[in-house]
Order: sequence, then structure tokens, then C-alpha cells
Amino acid sequence: MKIISISSAKGGVGKSTLAINLALSMKGKILVCDFDSQASLTDYFLRDTPLDDFINKTSYHFLTGKESAESCILKSDNDSIYIIPASLDLIKIGIEMASDPMGVIRARKRLQALKYDYIIIDTPPGIGFSMRAGLYCSDIILTPIQFDRWTVQGLSMLAEEVEAISEARTAPEIIAVPYMTTEKESIQLQDALSESFNVSKSFIGRKLPIRTAVNKGIPVKDSIKESFQNLSKEIA
Ligand SMILES: Nc1ncnc2c1ncn2[C@@H]1O[C@H](COP(=O)(O)OP(=O)(O)O)[C@@H](O)[C@H]1O
Ligand SMILES: [Mg+2]
Repeated sequence: MKIISISSAKGGVGKSTLAINLALSMKGKILVCDFDSQASLTDYFLRDTPLDDFINKTSYHFLTGKESAESCILKSDNDSIYIIPASLDLIKIGIEMASDPMGVIRARKRLQALKYDYIIIDTPPGIGFSMRAGLYCSDIILTPIQFDRWTVQGLSMLAEEVEAISEARTAPEIIAVPYMTTEKESIQLQDALSESFNVSKSFIGRKLPIRTAVNKGIPVKDSIKESFQNLSKEIA
């Protein structure tokens, strides 16, 4: 089993969209964990499930240890995808867990005990408890990068966070994914960054149908799915 989180200090860079499409394009039994109070994964995979069915069994309840992982897992409409949903409770988790830094270590152990081929975690922007929990739980951290002047600073901040984990265990691998870029930009990013950072060969273009599919709660068409499949093969 591999645990993969999608993280970035910046918001609006495509983390949730990447997490959703990666889950849809990977083979095997998948658990997606929504650690972001924006709840994009929850809205996508549990679009028709009433809030009452899960509001007291979410990633907040899992991360604070109020509930077991198993009791927070719901089946999505997709036969191979299961989900630990998010709720607005996550907004208060940083304050609640401030005195319990070991909470993130327990979270990894509890996820590792589950039987899935892949666990994909979506994390909120900024550096807070849920984001750190996602990083700490992971074997691989995917970070969408764009062709802009904040990219190196964002990657360096993520690397610093991961450095802190390496005091406790083998650090997760950070892979930067050129995202919402052209092919030319993805090659330029490779050239500029690959000495200091891992950059995936696969890139994901900026495509309106990707946005539309996520908003409508439907899968992207096969020609687009291919780019996510290529990325999933690269990190499998
Ligand atoms: N590959 C893409 N092409 C075009 N638009 C995209 C793509 N990926 C995401 N978007 C759009 O960009 C915005 C931010 O994406 P989102 O996944 O919510 O980012 P984050 O989770 O980092 O905040 C959303 O409106 C989304 O629909
Ligand atoms: Mg998001």
C-alpha cells in the first residue's frame, strides 16, 4: 500500500482536482481522505449522500481520535473508491490538537493498518495541523507546480516541512507535478528545478473540461484521463 498526499502551501493550484482524478485513474482499491474543510473530495465522491449520514464520522473525528478510521469510511458511487469525508469541524482542529503533536504519528499508524492499494489524501493550503497530518501520513507527496515566481519558495517550504518528519522516520518523497501548464512550460520547469527537486515527467494541462467534470461530479473523458493515468503510472 502507498499513501499519497496532495499538498501545496498555495490554494487554488489544483490539489483537489488532482486528488480526485488520480483516485479515478489508479488501479485497485482506493481510499481517499479529505483533510480539507473546503471538502472538495467529499462534494465530488459523496455528492448525493445526505450530510447526516457522515457529519459525526469525518476526518476531523478520525484525526482527533474520537472515531476509528474504519468507522469514518464510506463507500463512494465508484465501486473501487472509498472515502473519509471532511466537514467544517476541521477548521477548529488546529486549536484542539495544539497540545497533542503525537496525533499525526498515530494517524499514520492507523491508516497503515488499513487494507487498500492506495490512500490518497487531499490537504488544505497553508501549514496547519491537517496539512502536516497529511504530510506525516504519506509515503509520497505530490505538489502541483505552476510556471510562476512562487514555485521555488513553495517547494522549499514543503521540503522544510518534510525535513522535520525525517527526524522521526524515512521522509516521504516530494514529487512536483507541472499542473495547469503547457508541455513547453513543463519541460522548462523540469530544466529549471530538477537539480534540486523531483519533477514528474507527466504534466497536466489547463483544460476547461477538467474543471467542468469536477464541478458536475462526473469523470473526465478518456482522452483527458490519459494524462492522469500517465502520472499515476509514474508514481505507482
Ligand atoms: N487541469 C485543470 N484545468 C483547468 N482548470 C482546473 C484544472 N484543475 C483545477 N482547475 C480549476 O482550478 C480551480 C482550483 O482547483 P482546485 O483543485 O480546487 O485547487 P486547490 O484544491 O489547490 O484549491 C478550480 O476552479 C478548478 O476547477
Ligand atoms: Mg482543494
